[in-house]
Formats: sequence, structure tokens, C-alpha cells
Amino acid sequence: MNTIIQKIDLEHVTLQAVREAANIIRAGGLVAFPTETVYGLGANAKDALAAKKIYQAKGRPSDNPLIVHIAALESLSTVAKNYGDAVFALAEKFWPGPLTLILQKQEQIPYSTTGGLDTVAVRMPKNEIALKLIEASGCCIAAPSANISGKPSPTTMEHVKKDLFGKIDCILDGGSVGIGLESTIVDMTEKIPVILRPGYVTKEQLEMVLGSVSYDPALFLTEQRPKAPGMKYRHYAPEGNLIIVQGDAKRVIQRINLESAEKVRLGKRVGIIATQENRQQYLYGTVKVIGRQEDQGEIGRNLFSILREFDELGTDYIYTESFSEEGFGQAIMNRLKKAAANVVYDV
Ligand code: TXA
Ligand code: MG
Repeated sequence: MNTIIQKIDLEHVTLQAVREAANIIRAGGLVAFPTETVYGLGANAKDALAAKKIYQAKGRPSDNPLIVHIAALESLSTVAKNYGDAVFALAEKFWPGPLTLILQKQEQIPYSTTGGLDTVAVRMPKNEIALKLIEASGCCIAAPSANISGKPSPTTMEHVKKDLFGKIDCILDGGSVGIGLESTIVDMTEKIPVILRPGYVTKEQLEMVLGSVSYDPALFLTEQRPKAPGMKYRHYAPEGNLIIVQGDAKRVIQRINLESAEKVRLGKRVGIIATQENRQQYLYGTVKVIGRQEDQGEIGRNLFSILREFDELGTDYIYTESFSEEGFGQAIMNRLKKAAANVVYDV
């Protein structure tokens, strides 16, 4: 398949600019597009066959449901039903933005979009290209992250191209995304809303609107089955072995130096994910700076692209510092632990 790559200036997005891509969506094709979180791989959410193509292109298990993207609140009632004031309050505060809500699905949404579930995930992305694409297509757009299943989510057009070139119809290139980790998912079908996946919108922010909110226990207990089917798969994973080293900063650096010296001696390629503050202290392997310790936005934005860069280098072992779990840090450490398949050295 020929994949068209179309560059679009985020500052001047017109319906004209996205028209060709919108036509592809309407005709049942696949278009990758930027959102504020990560790039998505879109198809008409109400077209069962188009949704199926997404699973094929990504190599995604068919029980893993897609998120439906809308551009206007009026579209919500065509996707979901039986939701109450709390949903409107969240939409008012966080949409467009990095928050996905699980609601009861409308009949028009096919089971191939929801992975066979009677619930549907919905969000309104905060990115002009995404919003204009949805508007111009006149469709609600089902879109998972635009990566091969299991790989780190794409934060640039180049990442999407690497994974999906030749398998999809079009990529809209809107440059690097701003957030870099996927949206927060909240299940609104429970009496007390449940966070199924942490993201940029934090538990504290949700509590300000909803009162109480809980976390899906499976986020912290590996033996529990997560309610978001996608959260059970090994995910966001680089090719090499990723190991998180956590504890007192001095001991973390010592341990990473010790481990990496040994691996280098054995002829292995070693990568290190370091904070700016500690960068100079690592003695072996390729060191990449993820950001300053206090800048969670920078750390979140760089995480997936650093994992991909280490793949490009054929890195065998990647050692990473551990980061604060405050606020957005929940999402950062959730993705990091998944990418590391929970391999954590406590020092
Ligand atoms: O930021 C994002 O959310 C990005 C951009 C493209 O919008 N999308 C994204 O999609 O991360 P994806 O497919 O990679 O992740 C969707 C997650 C999966 O873990 C899936 O299991 C969960 O949402 N999900 C979707 N529908 C669900 C449902 N009805 N019930 C529970 N979990 C659901
Ligand atoms: Mg994904």
C-alpha cells in the first residue's frame, strides 16, 4: 500500500489541509494523525470493517478496544448513552484534552470498535489537526496509538512511519506531540469512577470535579486482571531489556555504573536513561538525558522517544533512574514499569 505523508502546519490548520485525509476516513481507510498525547491511527468508528483494518495494521489483539475521538460535545450522544451530569462536568473542565471516559455504548458503535464490550471509550483530543480531521470527515474516529502493538507509542511522524509505512493510507505530520504519554482513562460506568490508566490529567484534578475517584487495583498488583484490556499486555516495550533502578540517588548511580560496566565487559550494548542532574556521573554505555528531575512534563514527553532511540542503536540493556510518582509521575512510572515488565532493582 502507498502511504501518503502530509505535513501540516499546526498554526494554520484549515479544513482544506485535511480534506484528502478526511476523504480516506470516509471511504473506510486508515489515517494516522497527531493528538496532544501521542499519534493515533484513525478509522471511521461506526464502520466495523474499517475498525478491523486498524487491528490488522497494528497486529493488535481483537479483544483490545479502541478509543473513539469526537470533535464536538454534541457527537457524544451518538457514541454513548445513559451518562449523567458528572460526564458533562468532566467534559466542561477537561475536553478537549487528555482524558478518556468509559461509558455505555450506543448501538451504532460496532463491537469491532469496542473489542466486544458494551462500553465505549470516548475522548475529545486537544490538537487542531485531529479536531479538523474529525470535523472534515463527518465521522467519529476510532484511534488507538499509531504503533505496532507492544511498541512504545509514537510521539513523532517518524515513529509512525517506522512502524506503519506501507500498511496505512496516510500519515498527517504535525511534528512532535506535547504530552508524550497516552490519555488518562476513567471508567464512568462504576458508582465511584475508576482510573484504568493514569495520564496527564491526574487523580487530584479528577477529584476536584468528581469527589471520590479510585485507581484500578490492577495498576499496582500485577496478579490482578486490569479492566482496560490493553493494560494487561506487555506494552511500550523496547527491544532491549529495560531495568529500573530505584532508591537513594547515590546508590542508584553506583549500581547503574556497576551493572553497566559488567555488561559492557561482556560485549553488550548498554543504554542509560538519566536525569539532567546526574548525567555526568555515569561512566559506561550511551547516556541519554530524559529531563530535569523537577520537570515531569519534559520526562513524560521524552520517555517513548528515548526507548525508541535505544532500539535504533540495538541496545541490549537499558538502565533507567526511577522518577517521582507525584501527579503526572503516576503515568510516567506506570509506562516505565510496563516497559520494564516490572523489573525493578531496589538499592
Ligand atoms: O491518548 C490516547 O488515549 C491515545 C490517542 C491516540 O488518543 N490513544 C490510545 O489508544 O492510547 P490505545 O488504543 O493505545 O489505548 C486505549 C486503551 C486500551 O488500554 C484499551 O484497553 C482501553 O483504552 N479501552 C478502550 N475501550 C475500553 C473500554 N470500553 N473499557 C475499558 N478499557 C477500554
Ligand atoms: Mg496503545
